[in-house]
Amino acid sequence: MKTQWNLKPFSLDLGHLWDITSGIQLEKDHTAKLTQAWDQFFHKSKTNQIGFFNWPLPENSSQIEEIEGLARKLRQRFQAAICMGIGGSYLGPIALQEILNPLPSNQDFKVQWISNADSAPISRAKNSIHTKKCLAVVISKSGGTTETLAAWFHLSHHFSKDSIVVITDPKQGELRRLSQAEGWHSLPVPPTVGGRFSVLTAVGLFPLALQGIAVRELIEGANYMRELLTDCPTLENPALWYAYSKFLWDKQGHSIQYLMAYDSRMKLLSDWYVQLWAESLGKKELGSKVSVGPNPVSALGTSDQHSLLQLFKEGPRQRIVGFLTAEDPESPQVGTPTFSSPDFDYLTHRTFSELNLLASQATEESLHRGEVPTYRFSLPQLSPFNLGAFIFFQETACALAGELYRVNAFDQPGVEETKKILKGKLTAKP
Ligand code: PA5
Repeated sequence: MKTQWNLKPFSLDLGHLWDITSGIQLEKDHTAKLTQAWDQFFHKSKTNQIGFFNWPLPENSSQIEEIEGLARKLRQRFQAAICMGIGGSYLGPIALQEILNPLPSNQDFKVQWISNADSAPISRAKNSIHTKKCLAVVISKSGGTTETLAAWFHLSHHFSKDSIVVITDPKQGELRRLSQAEGWHSLPVPPTVGGRFSVLTAVGLFPLALQGIAVRELIEGANYMRELLTDCPTLENPALWYAYSKFLWDKQGHSIQYLMAYDSRMKLLSDWYVQLWAESLGKKELGSKVSVGPNPVSALGTSDQHSLLQLFKEGPRQRIVGFLTAEDPESPQVGTPTFSSPDFDYLTHRTFSELNLLASQATEESLHRGEVPTYRFSLPQLSPFNLGAFIFFQETACALAGELYRVNAFDQPGVEETKKILKGKLTAKP
């Protein structure tokens, strides 16, 4: 079996998920199981039941041009945007923004987000609306999510109709109705692409394009990964082995599945991974009442080494730990201090990036000695191409895991029910 892949956008090493004594074993019927998972997934994508997998294809190029075109036009007239969205309409775009535009200068187009609709982000947004010429970008696939609408209702007074963009379903929902009635700018979210799978559609691309980020390269990375996963032999497919290894560890009681990013810019990417895997897989098995699904968790290295590692290493055997690292050629050296500290001289010639990489390797080695299963993604660079490929890889692997768990990875009945209960409470007379 294959456990290592050196792909152009990243390398993946699953070796330490498989070399643990008393760890997971290949199931006798694994060939049939993996083949069936891929075939069922691929059939769904071909019959248009899974929209995200075909979205990066060149045939959708005109829709991406529309997103880029609107962003280009509005960048000339505005200097900032307040974006509103939650869940899949927030986590992906903010994760990419944090990596690709972490330190905007005063001259750059500034994008601020309201996700949790409480007083602090609302007040922050209100304070900055008047400091620059500001757009409102309201993002909701359904067009009716309470928190997003509440924020938008409150802030709507500050925006004229040509400074409003909504990103929502092309036909349905309150935001679509409003955009048509009021004449706001709008962009569609493809109907077959669900919230947490939508970061590479207008949901993520538009806010990023406003900031001048090369969104086309994100799509090229996703398309590269699509071809790679489609063309490789099923039993060498890295997304399938990633999904299968995590699935088997979950079945073996290691349901707490960390993705630990070793660069603070990637912490939100790891939060995005959590939503993707939690909301897609935490379900009742199709046709039964059995509850399944891993418990994905995000962490930040090295900070969380100093809070969680002891538990990982010697606590109950319930976890697997994934490492996510990226090379950072611009990372500064620690350098020589203004005082003498000879016992720590070994630090001075190292860059912070090297320090973090070595810390991640030390952590992995220590966990491996303690028989804790680990795996590793290494990105050569935090470029849009590599990130587009990484995101697409995670989405595909998660959808494949849906086949292994025998759940519908694309619905979220638990979230929908809560939305309805909240609406009931809000409409009830006090
Ligand atoms: O992945 C999902 O479908 C959810 O997390 C949604 O993104 C979230 O509930 C927000 O929904 P909407 O985009 O419809 O406002």
